Amino acid sequence: MPLISGIMKVKSFKGGFDKNFCYLIWCEDTMEGAIVDPSTEPLEIFEFIESNNIILSKILITHTHHDHICYLSDFTYKYPNITICGYNSTRKSLGNNFLGFKNNDIISIGTNMFTILYTPGHYDDSICFWSIKNRIIFTGDTVFVGRSGRTVNPYSNISDLYNSIYNIILKLDKNTIIHPGHDYGSSSTISIFENIKSSSFFSCNSKEEFIDVMDEFEKNR
Ligand SMILES: [Fe+2]
Repeated sequence: MPLISGIMKVKSFKGGFDKNFCYLIWCEDTMEGAIVDPSTEPLEIFEFIESNNIILSKILITHTHHDHICYLSDFTYKYPNITICGYNSTRKSLGNNFLGFKNNDIISIGTNMFTILYTPGHYDDSICFWSIKNRIIFTGDTVFVGRSGRTVNPYSNISDLYNSIYNIILKLDKNTIIHPGHDYGSSSTISIFENIKSSSFFSCNSKEEFIDVMDEFEKNR
C-alpha cells in the first residue's frame, strides 16, 4: 500500500486591522482544511473554500489579540460545527467550540500533523503551529519577517519572548518557512535561515543583546 504523503497547501489573505495575514491551509489527500487566525474579511475566503471543495474543520488561533480573532464569529456562524484550537488557557473566551492545547500537543489537518509550540512573550497565550513534514511554521506575532513581535502591551514579557525565539523557534530546521501574523517585512514569508542571516533581532548572542535590539527598535518607531 502506498504511503499517504499529500502535502499541505497554504493560501494567505491579507487585510484586517494592520496588514494581518489570515491563512487557509488544507490537506491535498483529504481536502480537510483549517484557518490560521480569522483576521481578514472572510467573504473572499468563503468563496475560495467553496470553489475548491475544501472541508473546513478547524480554526487555529495563534493568540487572542483582537486583530487575530476579529472575524471568528463570521466563521462560526457559517461553519457551526468547526473546532477552534488555541492555547489551553487563553486570555479571551473563544466560545463553545473551543479546544485548548498545550506545548507539544498535535493537531491533525487531514494526513498532516501540526505540533503546538507554546511561545509566550509577545502575549502569554501565544502559540505557533509547526509542521515538520511540510517545513512550515505559523508564528503569529512572535516572529515576523525581519523582526520579532513587540512586548509593550499587558501580558508581554521580553525574557519569555527571547526564550521562545532563541530556544524554540530558531532551533527548528533552518529551512522551515515562517508564515507570520502580519506583513511587516520585505517579503511575505522567509526561512528561519534567512531571517537569522538578515535580521539583528535573530542573530543576538545573549538575551541582553536581544533586549538592546528591541529597545533600539522601540526608540526609533
Ligand atoms: Fe498580537
